[in-house]
Amino acid sequence: MVGPLLSVIILAAGKGTRMKSTTPKVLHKLAGIPLVEHVIRSAGKLSPEQIIIVTGPEGKAIACNYPETISVLQRERLGTGHAVQSAKAVLDPKSNDVLILFGDTPLVKTQTLLQMVEAKNAPNKPDLVVAGFEAKNPEGYGRIICENYNTPIAIVEHKDATEQQRQINLCNGGMMLVSNQHLFNLIEETTNNNANGEYYLTDVLGLAVAQGLKTALVMFSEHEVLGINSRKELAYAESVLQERLRVSAMDGGATLIDPQTTFLSSDTVIEQDVVIEPNVFIGPGVKIEANVTIKAFCHLEQCTISSGSVIGPFARLRPGAQIGEDCRIGNFVEVKNSTFSKGAKANHLSYVGDSEVGEKSNIGAGTITANYDGFNKHRTKIGDGVFIGSNSSLVAPVTIEDGALVAAGSTITSSVSANSLAVTRAAQREISNGGERFRKKASSAKNKK
Ligand code: UD1
Ligand code: CA
Repeated sequence: MVGPLLSVIILAAGKGTRMKSTTPKVLHKLAGIPLVEHVIRSAGKLSPEQIIIVTGPEGKAIACNYPETISVLQRERLGTGHAVQSAKAVLDPKSNDVLILFGDTPLVKTQTLLQMVEAKNAPNKPDLVVAGFEAKNPEGYGRIICENYNTPIAIVEHKDATEQQRQINLCNGGMMLVSNQHLFNLIEETTNNNANGEYYLTDVLGLAVAQGLKTALVMFSEHEVLGINSRKELAYAESVLQERLRVSAMDGGATLIDPQTTFLSSDTVIEQDVVIEPNVFIGPGVKIEANVTIKAFCHLEQCTISSGSVIGPFARLRPGAQIGEDCRIGNFVEVKNSTFSKGAKANHLSYVGDSEVGEKSNIGAGTITANYDGFNKHRTKIGDGVFIGSNSSLVAPVTIEDGALVAAGSTITSSVSANSLAVTRAAQREISNGGERFRKKASSAKNKK
């Protein structure tokens, strides 16, 4: 970034008791991605020098997932100010500004964080920028006390606020951007002489003003500063984020027939003129190219669908499914770690795993690739223009070469050469009038009872 050097500290040492979970709170997922990763991504777009994550003892593993970040341990949870203090040892002293974010506040937009950066670099050069929002119900939040309309001079936590201060509904969103030069001196001045017995980060605002430092306020929407403490709040944040993702997909030129039942992930890529029918779940790592139709009731994760293909209804694309152009993956077809080349089809009731399906090949109804022998996974290679008859098993490892045909009901255990016909089922016998004889015999046996 051009301008002052910025470092980011993400506070994530909270226990998250109200989640009632063995997973650290910030690793719970929203739109397929852990809460803290949302924050890392939004902060990352500001191109900071460093992203430091402050974790508690139970969350030590968090930063391992994010090699671009630095992790520090806050051994005891003594408050947000103390948490920031724990990051001092690893913070690059060259940083001019420090942006403090919360790991459990995943909906903050880079755009609004940029407004904080802009406010910090405005001509009056404030030393501290706080994030405010108008709360519908301010209960529980810190209240921002302003002077001269919008110059913040103090934050009073709800528990410590007077009845009169509790009437204020300008609340603290939690994020703060502070000059590195002053941040730690200010934190050192904080005390834990308050209702929670904690070292509050919020106290640095009043202390800064007392020292004659300048401050500024940037307003966020209430949705953006939503903090997640319980499963109920997680579900609410999910609904807010899904709405954002759906709108952005539609703005990008996709048709969502019933947006409310289209579930997306934060990293979902949907190109123009994609049509998504109702009740579709899209997990992480999915790319849907232009002019693809996803019919109702599909479940997709870590897969790519190239242009012109039609998926579903009721299809399941699992990790590693790469569907080429103009393919058809129909109802009750499951594809895992497999490539379909241009124009290939599996239209009904199949499992295709660890396979390659060549151009314009057709996988008949009920075909199963038997890819697992209980110990290892094996691959099935299907060439171009192959026809696999219905209800066949392809026992991997096996290769069906170009133009070959597998007769319906076959169990294929060895490779089939190009343009051959493989049949493994028993030959059909016909007993003339056998049907009628059987019926007579069976009916007289039943009548005797
Ligand atoms: C905080 C603010 C409050 C604001 C609200 C917005 C303080 C004192 N209060 O209150 O003004 O309105 O956020 O949601 O900052 N954390 C640590 N170590 C600690 C304590 C907290 O890492 O010792 C982390 C938590 O994991 C969390 C964040 O800091 O990510 C905020 O802590 P939390 O206890 O949720 O603060 P609030 O009471 O919500
Ligand atoms: Ca909180």
